[in-house]
Amino acid sequence: MQVRLLNSFLLNYFIISYGCQMNEYDSARLAAFLEFQGAIPAINAEKADMILVNTCSVRAKAEESAIARIRDLKPLKERNKSLKIGVLGCMAKNRGESLFKDLPFLDFVLGPKDYGELPAAKLANNYSAFIAIQSGCNMKCSYCIVPYVRGMEQYREVDSVLKEIEEAVANGVSEVTLLGQTVNGYRYKGLSFASLLRRVADVKGIERIRFMSPHPKHYSGELLEILLCEPKIAPHVHLPAQSGSNSILKKMKRQYTRENYLSIVEALRSSNSLYGITTDIICGYPGETEEEFEETLSLLREAKFDSAFTFAYSPREGTPSALEKEFLSEKQKKARLQKIIDLQHSITLERAKLMIGQSEKILLEKLSRKNSDEWVGKTGNFKRVVVKAQPNFREGMYVDCVIEGVKGHTLRGVASQF
Ligand code: SAH
Ligand code: SF4
Ligand code: F3S
Repeated sequence: MQVRLLNSFLLNYFIISYGCQMNEYDSARLAAFLEFQGAIPAINAEKADMILVNTCSVRAKAEESAIARIRDLKPLKERNKSLKIGVLGCMAKNRGESLFKDLPFLDFVLGPKDYGELPAAKLANNYSAFIAIQSGCNMKCSYCIVPYVRGMEQYREVDSVLKEIEEAVANGVSEVTLLGQTVNGYRYKGLSFASLLRRVADVKGIERIRFMSPHPKHYSGELLEILLCEPKIAPHVHLPAQSGSNSILKKMKRQYTRENYLSIVEALRSSNSLYGITTDIICGYPGETEEEFEETLSLLREAKFDSAFTFAYSPREGTPSALEKEFLSEKQKKARLQKIIDLQHSITLERAKLMIGQSEKILLEKLSRKNSDEWVGKTGNFKRVVVKAQPNFREGMYVDCVIEGVKGHTLRGVASQF
């Protein structure tokens, strides 16, 4: 197993993580592995004997920032001759050996498949854990590099998933987020994602269940029913739409229509108008006309997303859409992106204001960075709430509060019971 390369004793390691939750999860597992071997986390890169940069390839910018950061690490090697620097993750797989050419001071490059079996994640905090239930992706969306760097879908055994969750609960965790690129496509020996959710909800000590990212194609009646009926499943879904135009969705090979997508939104919101729905949007896909772009803006208005991650299309070498001619300049793509951002900004605010007057149970995350007299927590529908600190407040505690206002995109709450 190549991960032996990372094997050492009593070294100080430092991990820099880019990309999605899957990478964060892998970084946490690498940390657990290293600590099991006797390594100690360094407080910063300067103090480390080994630096691991876990990278992302999803957009050109993700690769560029990782490369810039790695370049910045070079002087540390001159100061500390025993320092080892390794590149991990999706860019390591995407660029492979060629990284040594661009960054000759690197010691090793390992793709996600090279880590082999890693132990369960070291908890990022004491109350919430990511649990990967799927690796890879079979969807082959025309613009996306993930299937090429993460390989084919594989689903984890149910028992191993439940065991990891039980262990996390034993360590104080009460919130889990199930991870996978098309997480709701999970199946294992005839067991569906909806049944898995039911099994997770049965784990004693689990209070809140989240998952990401589900694919609109894999929404069954069975899944909608459990989402709306099981109180432990948080009323929030991150549901990437990518575009509001059927012709673009078809070119993207997303396998659903705008109407299919909106029917999921409708099902969730008709039973709970405050159901949190967030999304990912790409604008400026090759050949996207002004009309097609307008359809994305109208999707934002119609779906009323609570928030959205919005991206200008970035061609990735090796993906089918990279062969299509781009008619828009970077400037035009940026202009479309800005329109989306501005519109979503006002919708996010509108959705936040609907929360005023609501009684909410929030999970306390941390003391506010701006004001040590305040705590920051999350509602079930995934909104940030700031509440006045109380002496007994601690990380991972659930607090009932009433939402009294909105500041920026953050809600202000008053704790009613703690
Ligand atoms: N598996 C998830 C998405 C993983 S990638 C899903 O399909 O739901 C995260 C997001 O990055 C995608 O949802 C998409 O909006 C964006 N993205 C992926 N490839 C991109 C590209 N080539 N250019 C711009 N954005 C991209
Ligand atoms: Fe990429 Fe599509 Fe798979 Fe998501 S579902 S990871 S966008 S190929
Ligand atoms: Fe995630 Fe980026 Fe890889 S989004 S799967 S880290 S390419």
